[in-house]
Amino acid sequence: MTKLWGGRFTKRPEQWIDEFGASITFDKALVEEDIQGSLAHVAMLAKCNILTEDEKDQITAGLNKLAEKAKSNELSFSAQYEDIHLNLEKLLIDEIGPVGGKLHTGRSRNDQVATDMHLYLKKHVTEIIGLLKKLQTVLINKAEAHIETVFPGYTHLQRAQPVSFAHHLMAYFWMLQRDVERFTESLKRIDLSPLGAGALAGTTFPIDRNYSAELLGFSGIYENSMDAVSDRDFIIEFLSNSSLVMTHLSRFCEELILWSSQEFQFIEMDDTYATGSSIMPQKKNPDMAELIRGKTGRVYGNLFSLLTVLKGTPLAYNKDLQEDKEGMFDTVTTLEGSLTIFSGMIDTMTVKTENMTKATSQDFSNATELADYLASKGMPFREAHEVVGKLVLTCINQGIYLQDLTLEQYREASDLFENDIYDVIDPYNAVKRRNSQGGTGFAQVSLAIEKAKQHILL
Ligand code: ARG
Repeated sequence: MTKLWGGRFTKRPEQWIDEFGASITFDKALVEEDIQGSLAHVAMLAKCNILTEDEKDQITAGLNKLAEKAKSNELSFSAQYEDIHLNLEKLLIDEIGPVGGKLHTGRSRNDQVATDMHLYLKKHVTEIIGLLKKLQTVLINKAEAHIETVFPGYTHLQRAQPVSFAHHLMAYFWMLQRDVERFTESLKRIDLSPLGAGALAGTTFPIDRNYSAELLGFSGIYENSMDAVSDRDFIIEFLSNSSLVMTHLSRFCEELILWSSQEFQFIEMDDTYATGSSIMPQKKNPDMAELIRGKTGRVYGNLFSLLTVLKGTPLAYNKDLQEDKEGMFDTVTTLEGSLTIFSGMIDTMTVKTENMTKATSQDFSNATELADYLASKGMPFREAHEVVGKLVLTCINQGIYLQDLTLEQYREASDLFENDIYDVIDPYNAVKRRNSQGGTGFAQVSLAIEKAKQHILL
């Protein structure tokens, strides 16, 4: 077998070196995009009278045949032909004869591979935005069912103030909303055609880059041919946006795992998303949440890998850039899988509302209510803080909670206390009354959910 670029060579590399340099084992994932790009390129060549209509028809038919075979897994690729581009070109020539060799007129693998990557990411980023919105919808539905479910809010993982469980869930809605916005914004840069940039300098053929871009559904073209073939920013941006999604999912996973523990008992995962132990019969492990938390590592790794690959490459194309692919494919698979699992996990989990609410009556998370109470009666907040701090200490020493103190004990601490304090420190009321904009008050949470729904419709 001779190389498609073998003309100036006198020796063939050993097979293992071919294999080391080849990308076909992974860039075969771009088969559809590569054929799509070629179809647009050949149509453009004919429109610009660089190829005849007949040549175009033969090549188009050949490419369509390859597309069909690709669908039914009938194409056989070889490391001998290095990558998806040369493999397909070889298969095309086998299919339709030497006219197939005209396809590569006015094109290089450098603009070809960049085009494939743009097409691939455009498709997958659109899918990922859909999956993010699906998860946001699941969160809204869960939140709607739990507006008045009161549970402990934490800072420093210490009980802080009671909050609505819906409010906690909706915090993740807004993180994901920023993710949706970031991916949507990034589409502007993904949705550009590098095709026609050639190897780096453009071409002497009278091509029409806008025409092929339009056929491929791109909304614009790269302005500079050297930038077009060496830019991988759009992939780094994708990996960075994906890393941030994984950060959000991972934080959420950490909470789901804690909440599933014997110590919290706030939720229980559906059996589908949990596993047992090979030795301990009682175990129900929140495996999927742990795994997604773990997979965050590989997505970060993929981002750092490509940042590092790109930093030392001079313009324009360098073989280093072939290293852009596996991390991108892996991130797409990881992200799409994690988001799909996550939606199912949240949708099906059991929320143990009684345990949540019980937890808020066995802690001091209502202490701020007392301080606010005194402050609203005119005591400077700093003094009120001190008074309540002392009451908390008294309770801790006696093994009781604030609601167990008598009115006399309260009045000894400050005569501003009256009988209504017991209502004020009730956790349900504490949440209900936090009605500042964006706060956890039930009315605010309902409003926020309505707002969130508007975003989903966009
Ligand atoms: N397999 C190569 C890559 O993924 C395609 C481009 C090769 N271009 C070249 N001039 N060797 O980057």
